[in-house]
Amino acid sequence: MKESISITSCGTWQVPDHPSVACIQGDGIGEDIWPAAQAVLDAAVNTVYGDDKKIDWVPVPAGESSFNQTGHWLPDQTLDTIRDLKVAIKGPLATPVGKGIRSLNVRLRKDLDLYACIRPVKYYPPVPSPMKHPEKVDMVVFRENTEDVYAGMEWDSRSPECRQLMGMLKTHLNCDLPESSALGLKPMSPENTRRLVKKACEYAIENHRKSVTLMHKGNIMKFTEGGFRKWGYEAAFECFGDRMITEQDLYATYEGIVPDGHVVIRDRIADMVFADVLLKPEQYDIIACPNLNGDYISDALAAQVGGLGMAPGANIGEACAVFEATHGTAPDIAGKDMANPCSLILSGAMMLDHFGWQAAGDAVRRAVGRALAGEYLTPDLAGQIPGTKAVSCSRFSQIVADSLFVNA
Ligand code: NAI
Repeated sequence: MKESISITSCGTWQVPDHPSVACIQGDGIGEDIWPAAQAVLDAAVNTVYGDDKKIDWVPVPAGESSFNQTGHWLPDQTLDTIRDLKVAIKGPLATPVGKGIRSLNVRLRKDLDLYACIRPVKYYPPVPSPMKHPEKVDMVVFRENTEDVYAGMEWDSRSPECRQLMGMLKTHLNCDLPESSALGLKPMSPENTRRLVKKACEYAIENHRKSVTLMHKGNIMKFTEGGFRKWGYEAAFECFGDRMITEQDLYATYEGIVPDGHVVIRDRIADMVFADVLLKPEQYDIIACPNLNGDYISDALAAQVGGLGMAPGANIGEACAVFEATHGTAPDIAGKDMANPCSLILSGAMMLDHFGWQAAGDAVRRAVGRALAGEYLTPDLAGQIPGTKAVSCSRFSQIVADSLFVNA
């Protein structure tokens, strides 16, 4: 029986026992990792709930394969189906660099208003890491997904639009720029910052996390990134005043110990965050940041715990959610059944959490942990861990699925 996910007027997601979920296989290694992830997610739901719950997967076209079949990279019908079903999961999509079509990922996020990009970063031993203590990395990045320099407002050097804008800037705002400059805009608004920071604080409270750090470059970009900091604090206290405390309060009133049921809201300059997450990662928990900072820090953190092949992600809005592998299409290994499927599998676990099927999400994470601690790994990892042997993507995902049955 197929059923639709719905959202109440208060914003609560209602997920039936047999929800229909849109799935985009993706380009490149999508053909390897999507079937692998689907099999693990189905097995997890079946292990935990038996026949009571089951996902009805609805494949929708996007990317190169869609273009070859339909002439459209991202058909309107795909967007309509995701809007209708409310939830989608996707493999990576190829985007040409510098010219050609606009990133399909950016289009998906903009068109569906998926304003929060959520990336948990956690270490699974014995995955190789450049850190001495990677187990201290346990953070969740909330990246604003719709504005900042990703808003798509930029103009090429010497283009008529660029000349026009430059003329206006010179005449009306006294900005003197090299004539050959390319120009881009960095819009950042109170309302889009507030909803992102609200989501980060909500997550911190629900998941008993200790702090939310607003990561910004407000010392230099006072009105955009500085605005993010100011509006972020405002949103945290307006929405959750009784649960949030400042860093000053933490030391002045609570002797540096976060009281139960409370979350510290604080801010840090972006460059310092990059140093801190290497030197004292245990001091970071939830990080809320504008789009560009978020793009950089989430990939850097993924590298700290073993690379992009491991990092899951979700893009969430008020009306839709899209869960995705955070790495690209890996054309060098595409179609060879050797990619690491963990990013997409763990993104699927986030989707199960989002459904309120936390037991199944936890079962997936435990199974991935057990499989990674075993003897057989995909070649990207096996090559680096002594005593392990390389197996295909499909064989590794079978090991993950088999690991679900141990104390599931
Ligand atoms: P990439 O992530 O595809 O590959 C970088 C390196 O990591 C390659 O050596 C690749 O083999 C390896 N790698 C990536 N995922 C892996 C996995 N699951 N298992 C084992 N090894 C893995 O990044 P690249 O080369 O910069 O981008 C290729 C294409 O992917 C581009 O068209 C880009 O636009 C697109 N892309 C799409 C994303 C998305 O859909 N979310 C994100 C990033 C890039």
